[in-house]
Amino acid sequence: MNKIEKEISNAVTGAADKIAENAHIAEATAHFEKLLREQLARAEKMANAEPPKDFKTLDKITVGFCGGDGIGPIIMKEARRVLEALLAGELAKGRLIFKDIEGLTIENRMAKGKAIPDDVLAEIKTCDVILKGPTETPKGGTLESANVSMRRELDLYANVRPVTVPEEGIDWIFYRENTEGEYALGSKGIDVPGVLAMDFKVTTDCGTQRIARAAFEYARKNGKTNVAIVTKANIMKKTDGKFSKICHEVAADYPEITAEDWYIDIMTANLIKEGRRNQFQVFVLPNLYGDIITDEAAEIQGGVGTAGSANIGDHYAMFEAIHGSAPRMMEEGRGEYANPSSLIKASELLLRHIGMIEAADRLAAAMAACDKEKAVVITNHKDGATCKEFADYVISKL
Ligand code: IPM
Ligand code: MG
Repeated sequence: MNKIEKEISNAVTGAADKIAENAHIAEATAHFEKLLREQLARAEKMANAEPPKDFKTLDKITVGFCGGDGIGPIIMKEARRVLEALLAGELAKGRLIFKDIEGLTIENRMAKGKAIPDDVLAEIKTCDVILKGPTETPKGGTLESANVSMRRELDLYANVRPVTVPEEGIDWIFYRENTEGEYALGSKGIDVPGVLAMDFKVTTDCGTQRIARAAFEYARKNGKTNVAIVTKANIMKKTDGKFSKICHEVAADYPEITAEDWYIDIMTANLIKEGRRNQFQVFVLPNLYGDIITDEAAEIQGGVGTAGSANIGDHYAMFEAIHGSAPRMMEEGRGEYANPSSLIKASELLLRHIGMIEAADRLAAAMAACDKEKAVVITNHKDGATCKEFADYVISKL
């Protein structure tokens, strides 16, 4: 190639690159416009939401069970057995109905190419509350997490995660925003192959008001005096800035409660600081920070296998373990040694949500008795008790 030919070739390549870049920008701009319109529509829907369902007025409450993947069906079977023992009377009276929901499995979801296949979602919507085992999400690809999809489809905006360590005076409750933040568009980012990728974070006024209201209401009803608003508003100025500002606006209606701003980084440090950490009470935080810090908090309590999680909306609620499907345990043949405590704790949260406080207290007392006596201990390995043995132990303490 002589000099002139080289110049022509460079110019042609440069022009082709420019055309490709412009095409990417046009495509991304159209994509962004669509996302923005969808999110504006979601915000408007929230602003016009119907009043919440009141469980006290229902003469029948349907509880749906979704086993999920990996260790899910194993721990679900045992959690359900505990519930059946605890609620035998209510079940016999027919006020409480237990219903199996089939098909929320990775195989079925992959086959249908949907995070929650339509028929499964329709079944879920026939229930008032759901107890759900962990579901697997493939890394990469396009299949969205079943959790994220369910939280969105049922508008389960409050992820409530209690963590307690009585001997240290730790009694925390996390109000994690559950439908927006980094999760709202987590599968809908922009990719310019070989150059860059962008994801989006969404914080709405209504979405923040409702999670803040839930956290402060909890604090008021439970005699708590402090709510920590945890963000990274020094960096994520628009979204976290809004989150913090709106939480403070809501806090103004609760003058008896101190609302404190914290950054997520120092808060993760404070949670491992003995002598300081037991002063925190209620936390309210955007989705991703809530996801991360609640695993840390659960570990402080004794492991992610010990923590339950409530996903609460105005019309539906879903209760689950905070951990995943534990594929490594399954591969190593340790599935039957999985700890059902997380799902049993989630069941306790479910009972409180539907107003069965006395049954919830009995279950909590049985779990606390097992935890104190430790005659049957789960290690997740063959040297410990099986999931079934542990459930029998809980039932013996009811
Ligand atoms: C949780 C889980 C989920 C989340 C996963 C399974 C999608 O980690 O409930 O905390 O990220 O929210
Ligand atoms: Mg998590």
